[in-house]
Amino acid sequence: MDTKFNIVFCDVDDLAYDYLGKHKIAEQANCTFLRESLNDLPPNRLQELAKTEIISTFVYSRLTANVLQSFKDLKLVSTRSTGYNNVDLDYCKANGVQVVNVAGYGEITVAEYTMGMLLNLTRNIEFSHNKLKNGIVKVDEDMGIDLSGKTVGVIGTGAIGRHFVGLCRAFGCHILASDPFPNQKLIDEGACQYVDLPQLFSASDIISLNCPSTKENYHLINKDTIAQMKDGIYIVNTARGELVDTVDLYAAIVSGKIKGAALDVLEYEDVIIKNDVDAVKNNDKNFALYSVINAKLLQLPNVIVTPHIAFNSFDAVLRILNSNIQTISDFIDGKAVKSVI
Ligand SMILES: NC(=O)c1ccc[n+]([C@@H]2O[C@H](COP(=O)([O-])OP(=O)(O)OC[C@H]3O[C@@H](n4cnc5c(N)ncnc54)[C@H](O)[C@@H]3O)[C@@H](O)[C@H]2O)c1
Repeated sequence: MDTKFNIVFCDVDDLAYDYLGKHKIAEQANCTFLRESLNDLPPNRLQELAKTEIISTFVYSRLTANVLQSFKDLKLVSTRSTGYNNVDLDYCKANGVQVVNVAGYGEITVAEYTMGMLLNLTRNIEFSHNKLKNGIVKVDEDMGIDLSGKTVGVIGTGAIGRHFVGLCRAFGCHILASDPFPNQKLIDEGACQYVDLPQLFSASDIISLNCPSTKENYHLINKDTIAQMKDGIYIVNTARGELVDTVDLYAAIVSGKIKGAALDVLEYEDVIIKNDVDAVKNNDKNFALYSVINAKLLQLPNVIVTPHIAFNSFDAVLRILNSNIQTISDFIDGKAVKSVI
């Protein structure tokens, strides 16, 4: 009888394949490496993998109850990401599946990228570069703002947000923060002032989203909260697309209420990133609307969109892979793993 664990690694790119494929776990277990997302596999392929006990996944795979129920022996989902909103936790809880994310692999990585996006946005770097490539020089259109002296509202001061606070401090910003669990170290250092969300919305020149996507945080930024903000505010989102009602965001940018937005994440981003049109097949009524809005956002000169790459530094990806494989090794060795449920 084969007593080896059956592991599926999905959403595997070249670097991950090279790293994971050479790890000793590839000999200790029956490993299947898939470039595809699990939800993209046809039923016969899912059936071949039915005995899978461990799934290692990236954010692209939507591990819905529908997908997960193909794996009756499933015991562990180990994500190669901090966020795990792509995994149906209710299903996992009900079926005794542990879900382990990678905590703390790339807090500085994402914070640095957030600052990069913010500078790009507020100094029109990409806007000016694109014009120059087309032979257009209109320096008056390129005028930006200093960060020094501006009030930055940071929503969520967890691993990433607290590093972002540090970077904003280095730029001479005044920082307002909101978090149900304020960070005592930031308070002791006088790094930021914790306020409630309405205060943060009304007093900030710039808002950065650094909190997770949860049921409670769905569309945290919407037409009502945007109305509370200063005219000409900048918004940066490197957390999750679902935190922002994209339709309301688009309207506020077009009206000039929001001066510009830098978005590494979008609602329905899979459509842009992966050409994923599954939602059409599933008759998702929002699919068409959000696809149009995302396409229109991309056309705006004061909007920067990147394809969910804030985590994507070489250093961070190696830390992710290390952590993921450590979780799986510990699980196989019978050690306790830190499940999020
Ligand atoms: N773009 C990327 O490549 C990328 C990479 C990593 C993480 N992320 C996203 O960034 C998010 C933050 O990551 P992290 O490692 O800092 O997570 P974290 O769990 O360390 O911190 C999140 C913080 O947000 C706070 N929070 C939750 N709801 C809030 C609300 N309504 N208002 C204010 N604060 C709230 C929590 O209390 C926590 O302190 C992740 O959940 C993930 O969605 C994106």
